[in-house]
Amino acid sequence: HGKSEAAAPRRVPLGGAIQAEYFDADPAYRQAFLDHCDLIMPMNELKFDQIRPARDAWNFEPADRLVEFALANGRQSRGTCHVWWNALPAWVEAIDDAGEAEAVLVEHVERVTDRYRGKLAGWDVVNEVIANDPQQEGPLRRTDWLRKLGPRHIPIAFAAAARTDPATRLVINDYDLEFVGPRFDARRDVMLSIVRQLQDGGVEVHGVGMQGHLYADREIDKPALERFHRELGALGVGLLVTELDVIDWHSPADPQTQDATAHRLVSDLLDALFAWKPPEAVIVWGISDRYSWIPAVLPRPDGAPDRPLPLDRDMVPKEWMRLL
Ligand code: XIL
Repeated sequence: HGKSEAAAPRRVPLGGAIQAEYFDADPAYRQAFLDHCDLIMPMNELKFDQIRPARDAWNFEPADRLVEFALANGRQSRGTCHVWWNALPAWVEAIDDAGEAEAVLVEHVERVTDRYRGKLAGWDVVNEVIANDPQQEGPLRRTDWLRKLGPRHIPIAFAAAARTDPATRLVINDYDLEFVGPRFDARRDVMLSIVRQLQDGGVEVHGVGMQGHLYADREIDKPALERFHRELGALGVGLLVTELDVIDWHSPADPQTQDATAHRLVSDLLDALFAWKPPEAVIVWGISDRYSWIPAVLPRPDGAPDRPLPLDRDMVPKEWMRLL
């Protein structure tokens, strides 16, 4: 899909996380997806609070539309995410009984996985279960699911997904897995130990998703990332980048410098991953600066326009799109 010759040897499927409302409203966005991407990931439409806002209200339609668009255009789709602390509807938060919580979790994973059975190449089964700083709080993040069910909510979710769609790739997804520093070493270690524990318990896990929200003031730990990739490989588990973008609060506010910073970081990330073997896919979180979450959630302190994604606001590819 319009990639330069030079980038060809490092080509892996390129995905775009897409919000249905923008995709529906903006033909330029749909065209940008078709020009550049192999795979759709609904950005929010499969999250718990979106898909089941109330106990008796299921809302599959926006995700269905994106998955059907991908199918109609010969592209793949993957899903995110069954378990995430940040997308829980109030009715689930209110459940205190462990038995009821487990029943709701299993029903949710089975029902949602089943609806897309055969249509999604993979699923982020759990998202952000590792403590932000495992040395301080760890190893697991203190989420509502942890409070209700303990660590076993992780194998419960994986096992329910595996028996419902045996062909889809089941992924554990998290952030801050690529940088230099003890907090990041600890996070990589926790990820490896969760994967081992799942396997020791006879629960299938096929991949680790690194979100890949990169930061201009953080260095990619290339040797550690290559080691992590190999260690996962030795366990029979793949690695992919699920939410790539660049958060840059520090570069001077000029597009050339911001884009050069992003280029360097993404290139370091890909160098580290490809050092051993290609990642399974790289997914960018929005494709275009026009539809990034960064300006709303992690904006530049100086108020200058954020440039986190490989297409600018006019859908023009930046130089670093060639890396993907
Ligand atoms: C974000 C979306 O981009 C926003 O549109 C939404 O309001 C909140 O979630 N890590 C994740 C993603 O795993 O699911 C988050 O996505 C961004 C951080």
